[in-house]
Amino acid sequence: MARPPPVDPTAATVPATPFDAVQAGAVYRAIFERRDMRHFVGGQVAPEVLRRLLHAAHHAPSVGFMQPWGFVRITQPALRQRLHAAVEAERQRTAEALGEQQDAFMRLKVEGLLDAAELLAVVLRDGRERHVFGRRTLPQMDLASAACAIQNLWLAARAEGLGMGWVSLFEPAEVAAPLGLPAGAEPIALLCLGPVAGYYAEPMLAQQRWARREALAACVHDDAWDRPSALFAADANADDAAGA
Ligand SMILES: Cc1cc2nc3c(=O)[nH]c(=O)nc-3n(C[C@H](O)[C@H](O)[C@H](O)COP(=O)(O)O)c2cc1C
Repeated sequence: MARPPPVDPTAATVPATPFDAVQAGAVYRAIFERRDMRHFVGGQVAPEVLRRLLHAAHHAPSVGFMQPWGFVRITQPALRQRLHAAVEAERQRTAEALGEQQDAFMRLKVEGLLDAAELLAVVLRDGRERHVFGRRTLPQMDLASAACAIQNLWLAARAEGLGMGWVSLFEPAEVAAPLGLPAGAEPIALLCLGPVAGYYAEPMLAQQRWARREALAACVHDDAWDRPSALFAADANADDAAGA
């Protein structure tokens, strides 16, 4: 099929005016108040809201614009139970792999599969090897792209007053089989989505003393890995000061 002629991308552009303070504040608020949620209160997500969230996910950037994602909405209780069993089995295996941290891990709540109003599986489509643009040396950019879609969904869910949790504790084959995924397709997330009583004030793993946020200053470098960035030289705790 003949492609239509290319469009000059500089001929008609959207003005690069900054958002006003309220709009910009809303974007940052969604970023900072988004939490990975594992406690849900059941209820429902209205179909038009779910469509908006998936629309937001589908507008994520992707390497070579390959759009590697697919979403499977779980509507059958028996299928949800089966996926929950797969997560529980992997939770046990993860605990064993953690050695002396096993008990602390088992005390963590790491999923809300049975309580969330909606359960969505995010899948990397089959046939991804055809997409070479941006992936010849970094094939994992398909995963990075799908993660962008999930982050869009996460932020939009916060804006809608819903919670979302990304569960990756599963053996991919144990999720792929019940969902009937074709060979080459790969599940990367079980997303628990729905009403919550409130958002954790901090990442739950920080509240549970499992991990804490790194200082931003330790993550930013100028020119070389061994050179901390001058941006944060004055205040090594600039991350905290910025309220991040
Ligand atoms: C790729 C990815 C996979 C994750 N998998 C799980 C998971 O299986 N179970 C879980 O409880 N949290 C999971 N999380 C959530 C993280 O624990 C959470 O993002 C982190 O603790 C920071 O908390 P916050 O998202 O509330 O800022 C995952 C997050 C990401 C980005």
